[in-house]
Amino acid sequence: MPETRVGVIGAGYVGLTTAVCLASLGHPVHCTDIDTAKVAALNRGRTTLDEPDLSDLLVEGLAGGRLAFGTDPAALGDAEVVLLCLPTPMSADGGADLGAVHAALDRLGGLLAPDAVLVTKSTVPVGTTDRLAARLDRADVAVVSNPEFLREGHTVADFLHPSRILVGAHERRAGDRVAALYAQLAAPVVRTDPASAELAKYASNAFLAMKASYVNGLAELSERVGADIADVAATMGLDDRIGPAFLAPGPGWGGPCLPKDVSALVHAGRGVGLDLPLLRETLRANETQRRRVLDKIGAAVGGPLHGVRIGLLGLTFKAGTADVRDSPALAVAGELARRGAVLTGYDPAARAEDLPPRCPVQLVDDPYLVAKDAAAVVVLTEWPEFRALDWPRMAALAEQPAVVDTRDVLDRAALTGAGWSYRGIGRSAQPPAPGTGW
Ligand code: UDX
Repeated sequence: MPETRVGVIGAGYVGLTTAVCLASLGHPVHCTDIDTAKVAALNRGRTTLDEPDLSDLLVEGLAGGRLAFGTDPAALGDAEVVLLCLPTPMSADGGADLGAVHAALDRLGGLLAPDAVLVTKSTVPVGTTDRLAARLDRADVAVVSNPEFLREGHTVADFLHPSRILVGAHERRAGDRVAALYAQLAAPVVRTDPASAELAKYASNAFLAMKASYVNGLAELSERVGADIADVAATMGLDDRIGPAFLAPGPGWGGPCLPKDVSALVHAGRGVGLDLPLLRETLRANETQRRRVLDKIGAAVGGPLHGVRIGLLGLTFKAGTADVRDSPALAVAGELARRGAVLTGYDPAARAEDLPPRCPVQLVDDPYLVAKDAAAVVVLTEWPEFRALDWPRMAALAEQPAVVDTRDVLDRAALTGAGWSYRGIGRSAQPPAPGTGW
């Protein structure tokens, strides 16, 4: 297998996963990050990212001498392919903030080896790859778009077993060199131009968000007409043209990617005089969903929220990650606190130091403590272990046994049997008639 000397800039979820996985495929990889403490820890084989298999591959790569970390971009001077894996957060106008990408490019520009290929792996607005090429201004260095599709909590598996590999390049040879990095992976390779690759990434994430918003709307309708969203969604998902993923209702979708990507796509449309009403509505529906959740919590408490204790189960933006960035759970918590509620929260993975400054939730390390004297317990993240809690014990601790299950993860029959008043999303307090389901 031909090896490529790879440079990776940025050791976050995407960069670190990319670095360790490319090393595991046999490429020599040097990964840089501006965080000296993180680099030192990584060189000792330690990562705070709790991604399955990441730590093992990191240790293997270091031990095999195929992987190293540093802070000096000059170390990338002999790399044949350099991948930019930097954050592109949402800027104030809803667009993508390319500050980190520009800063890295400006530091790197003159250092790149003759004939190197620079790759945008970060999600960047359409046209960015070409604009970076112009900013770099090196006729001998091609800039290629190669977006990732990694889900947090599954980054290594998604990297090594991708649904597709996407390469957007003007020059075939530069595209070939990027595609060659992944030659051992069994996945369809889409070869296109940079603008199509950039747009395809945004389009995929925005479609997922739209799907989730659609299901949240159907969940509300289900409640009103006496249907059960789980059965509705399962039926839809069995149609190959729809597929079962992203059909779970919840408190609204969040995380570091979907919200900023949908906003960036709406912004991109505006930039060329195009309104994208489906996407605007996708965003608006997400706000509506959060309000619905707040209404349910208000109904569960049964009175004003001021001074009332509410227990929160789950703070991360989804299960299987410690990430709380743009978490729907924290958005709901913020609004509850604004209304005067006193909040206690438990999460199996979230770390206190990752919570935003002035976070109104008192983080506890025992799920039963969130029930203590609570007027309502609210499940905000779909951690499966919440289903297995001792709910009769939770009921005994609570001031009133009222639960709002915004992820439909609890056993509603068991809970109502244990004396809880149960409110889910798109479903009644009791399961449909016995014998139904599939
Ligand atoms: C997403 C994309 O899936 C991934 O391809 C891309 O590379 C990065 O962004 P991630 O941010 O890790 O990945 O989260 P994802 O699993 O997509 O979930 C996003 C949000 O949607 C979460 O808040 C999740 O709870 C919510 N969601 C997901 C639902 O509300 N319902 C669902 O059925 C699925």
